[in-house]
Amino acid sequence: MKRKRILYLTDLSYQAKGRVYSEEDIYITDRLKENFDVVLCHPVCAEAFEGMADLIVFRNTGSVIGYKDTYNSFVKRVKEKGLKTFNTFTGKADMQGKQYLLDLTQKNYPVIPTVDSWDSLDILPETERYVIKPKDGADSIGLEFATREELAHRRLAGGRFLFQPEIDFDYEVSFYFINDKFEYALYAPDKTKRWELKQYNYSEEDISFAKMFIDWNTIDKGIQRVDACRAKDGRLLLVELEDLNPYLSLLEVDDKTREIFLTDFISEISHI
Ligand SMILES: Nc1ncnc2c1ncn2[C@@H]1O[C@H](COP(=O)(O)OP(=O)(O)OP(=O)(O)O)[C@@H](O)[C@H]1O
Ligand SMILES: [Mg+2]
Repeated sequence: MKRKRILYLTDLSYQAKGRVYSEEDIYITDRLKENFDVVLCHPVCAEAFEGMADLIVFRNTGSVIGYKDTYNSFVKRVKEKGLKTFNTFTGKADMQGKQYLLDLTQKNYPVIPTVDSWDSLDILPETERYVIKPKDGADSIGLEFATREELAHRRLAGGRFLFQPEIDFDYEVSFYFINDKFEYALYAPDKTKRWELKQYNYSEEDISFAKMFIDWNTIDKGIQRVDACRAKDGRLLLVELEDLNPYLSLLEVDDKTREIFLTDFISEISHI
């Protein structure tokens, strides 16, 4: 039988804080080659090869802010030409910027309360410091902490930034899914080292929390990561729903978990 040709998009030179993204993709593609013909490519070079691929897998490509125009025209081609991709480009979360944090706040989902204008600041819970995030930000680019007085002195263009209260959380935790199947959870026990992740002993309630956002989103096929923080009152709050290119920390999980993940991943992309 003819093997499926996979165009695997990644940026092997991406410099992420505290992690080496390329190691994960080298590992995954080494495993994928057992079942598929795989070629690795940076998104900016993708167009030349798209026509030859049966499936395009979008993985650790780093923040797309660095190549926004290329990214937008890639997504446009995916839609116009009906290119098969994993993830599908049908998501409402990170793939579209951070607008979804406002939408989820308005719908009363358990997210860090988020507004996008100075006038709406009073809607947020009382806090000493606020977090400012550019709506189209990622990888903490442009993320700042500021008091209300400091905010008043800034001239932030309306609609381009998000404001949140600074949450004094106990720890951050991430839940990883393939389609709507929960795979594993990792957390950062040391707040000052958020990339040092350990296995997280989740409860059923934790999984229901994470699943709520997967159910809300509209990714037909793909890998998503639900990032949350545990507030002092014990509640989980959504920090980020990464539905474009979540880093998986797959080399940090135990062998059994990693094997199940890879089996599910291979099975999913075999059937697209
Ligand atoms: N409202 C908040 N209160 C306290 N800490 C926050 C808040 N928002 C974000 N942070 C901290 O900043 C980090 C990055 O925030 P977020 O995930 O929203 O940004 P990002 O641009 O997607 O960046 P990254 O890719 O680095 O995660 C969070 O993991 C958390 O540690
Ligand atoms: Mg984040």
